[in-house]
Amino acid sequence: MTDTDTALRESLELLFASDPDVRRDPWSLWEALHAHGRIFRVGSQVVVSRHADVKATLMDFERFSNRWVEDGSRAAEIIASLNPEQRAAHAEISAFESMYVSRSDGEQHDRLRQIAHRAFTPRKIAELRQSCDRYADDLIVAMLESDEGDFVDELAYVLPLMLIADMLGVPQGERDLIRNWSNRLGLNRGGSDPVALMDAHVALGEFRAYVKDVIAVNRRAPVESNLIAALMDASQDQRMTADELAAMFVVLLFAGHETTTNLIATGLLELHRHPDQWRVLCEAPDMAPQAVEELLRWVSPIQWTLRVAVEDVDFGGETIDAGSTVAVGIAAANRDPLIFDGPARLDLRRPEAKAHIAFGFGTHFCLGASLARLEGEVALRKLATRFPDMEVATEGLEWQGNALLRGLSSLSIRLGRDQQSIPAQAI
Ligand code: HEM
Repeated sequence: MTDTDTALRESLELLFASDPDVRRDPWSLWEALHAHGRIFRVGSQVVVSRHADVKATLMDFERFSNRWVEDGSRAAEIIASLNPEQRAAHAEISAFESMYVSRSDGEQHDRLRQIAHRAFTPRKIAELRQSCDRYADDLIVAMLESDEGDFVDELAYVLPLMLIADMLGVPQGERDLIRNWSNRLGLNRGGSDPVALMDAHVALGEFRAYVKDVIAVNRRAPVESNLIAALMDASQDQRMTADELAAMFVVLLFAGHETTTNLIATGLLELHRHPDQWRVLCEAPDMAPQAVEELLRWVSPIQWTLRVAVEDVDFGGETIDAGSTVAVGIAAANRDPLIFDGPARLDLRRPEAKAHIAFGFGTHFCLGASLARLEGEVALRKLATRFPDMEVATEGLEWQGNALLRGLSSLSIRLGRDQQSIPAQAI
């Protein structure tokens, strides 16, 4: 093993443990992996980093399972390190999470995905544009009340949460509850930090009880929503159990905002770290959909995902052993020089930007991709159109605690003059 191998291994271990220094800038690490063969072993895990291999792994649902919380080398290592009380909490969390569409395999996955998919088609999501626009405008009006503000708190976090709350019949006034439970679940990294594990266990208990009440209310008087209709129909026809229904609410509320928050807030930060690119967008706000694709590639809101090899898998002469936990490097794939020309350059006009894998690939491809694209586009278009002179604090940033869901805890901004309020002849 060379010194570079050892240094890379140590840095990846720190990243997987969400070390604050490494999570601030994981990019040199992901990029370095490309020079290290097709697979790289780190502790009990194997890392896959090339674009083609990441895609192949995500597509191969027969040889790679999504049950990484309870199965595989990393789960075994974590479970062995827990005391009996923590182990019981871990077992309860993984039993519930195994009913998430994102954590299930085979028939169960196909069935759950089919039920929810009905409400997430691009056509159905396009129907939400008006409310997305209205919510974004309302949030901007509120932000205009003070000269400076926290963009995460005041827009990036709230906008996605408002939309998914409407889709699931969750009252807007209860958003902070969801935020609190989601934050605590997000800090639990498969049980590797026992304190975060025990807190996530409590949070999940409260979240489940809350979701049960929301479901009961929706059964009596369903809100008008394609998603509620799809879920209530499926539960009435017994295509999903009561527990699966509750798990669907939790996973959609959780997955339905945090990642998009990270796209919008980190995306805005990156545009201000590259002022030439911010100018490009301000001069042509209709480029917002294209900008979203390049920012998805650039920030990779989900940095990696996990799988467990269910049999030995050959990767160009090297073997991933059955039972290995595989860290599938989405962020690394999004910087693969074989696919992206000058991958370490942010370029909103990049023709191949859409080759990114920020939403995954294959059977588990992000269910909410159209919704996230809509939210990202609306937010960026409005900001670039109305506040081209906005200032964003690009130093002294605070990143939230889980490196896998890389995102800012806060982002100070000053909106500056609102172009919308300036009469046309004055411009
Ligand atoms: C920028 C925002 C988002 C990003 C980057 C993102 C990323 C991803 C990725 C990478 C996966 C695949 C994970 C894997 O294969 O292990 C995924 C799956 C999923 N996402 Fe998203 N997501 C985003 C927004 C959303 C939204 C808004 C929702 C729902 C409202 C959502 C719901 C889901 C669900 C349910 C799955 C599991 C799908 C399945 O297993 O069949 N996501 N997402």
